[in-house]
Amino acid sequence: MTALDLSSPVAVVGTGTMGQGIAQVALVAGHPVRLYDAVPGRAREAADAIGARLDRLVAKERLTAADRDAARARLLPAGELSDLADCALVVEAVLERLDVKQELFGALEKIVSDDCLLATNTSSLSVTAIGGALRVPGRFVGLHFFNPAPLLPLVEVVSGFATDADCAARAYGTARAWGKSPVACADTPGFIVNRIARPFYAEAFAVYEARGADPATVDAVLRESGGFRMGAFELTDLIGQDVNESVTHSVWQSFFHDVRFTPSLAQRRLVESGRLGRKSGRGWYDHRDGAERPAPHTAGPEPAPAYVVADGGPGPASD
Ligand SMILES: NC(=O)c1ccc[n+]([C@@H]2O[C@H](COP(=O)([O-])OP(=O)(O)OC[C@H]3O[C@@H](n4cnc5c(N)ncnc54)[C@H](O)[C@@H]3O)[C@@H](O)[C@H]2O)c1
Repeated sequence: MTALDLSSPVAVVGTGTMGQGIAQVALVAGHPVRLYDAVPGRAREAADAIGARLDRLVAKERLTAADRDAARARLLPAGELSDLADCALVVEAVLERLDVKQELFGALEKIVSDDCLLATNTSSLSVTAIGGALRVPGRFVGLHFFNPAPLLPLVEVVSGFATDADCAARAYGTARAWGKSPVACADTPGFIVNRIARPFYAEAFAVYEARGADPATVDAVLRESGGFRMGAFELTDLIGQDVNESVTHSVWQSFFHDVRFTPSLAQRRLVESGRLGRKSGRGWYDHRDGAERPAPHTAGPEPAPAYVVADGGPGPASD
């Protein structure tokens, strides 16, 4: 399986959570890496943040100081999109909007060479739609990393309708050379993981909405009996309720409102009230300083009392 040569520069566009992680992966693998973000100064901040993470790897003895210094020297924030002209791969990790991604790739195509691989890290948009308007759509592919990208091994390598097989193979081989465990898949809504994960969240929320059990209890069951690292409620608090809900919407719409993917009303209310999870301090759980984490209900049911003594009259209940 062919991988990009390590001397080939890789660009990451959009240097938020995912962009930084993906850039770190390519950098540690040995590529020169260019960072570009639409917000001035953000690529520089991202380079500093990646540098700090490399320092921590050195402190933990997972990277030598010499490799850290060499990696830092290979990492360049770019002031203009045109600074990415010599890159062999551009991975896009900007916000999850079709029009924004399409416009970006339209601009990139005018800058990079025709054999530069163009990749999107979209979680839920159609790879075919993002790359559909490109002049050379065959070199467009989905490279879907998971958060945190430096730690999680899976990368979905998504072939859109027009993706050339050898371009997908190059993307796959490169992800593998970066130490990841890529999986090739076609461009169906949610790809593999985000599609299968929808019912995981939806059924947990449905149990709560039906007053079957509270979030702490459902999470404890999923963790301790189901073997999941996190339950659906704590995981969506980590992801962000807004982000998780928008992926659900996208998959639901893409499947023509198939009831299996119906969004949750309870989650809608969380998002509307700004309870987005850890990032806003509250979600399903209260993450504010000093807040107590609710315990799962593991006690058995109490037997009903034999009788109840009411003290006083029935009040407004009488008519
Ligand atoms: N956060 C996750 O857990 C996760 C996981 C997998 C995939 N993704 C996908 O990765 C992408 C990025 O997500 P994120 O969580 O890193 O977002 P983020 O908000 O942390 O970062 C996005 C960055 O893109 C920049 N940006 C926006 N428009 C731009 C443009 N036109 N050109 C250049 N830069 C631009 C923003 O300034 C910001 O720095 C999305 O498509 C998302 O669906 C996210």
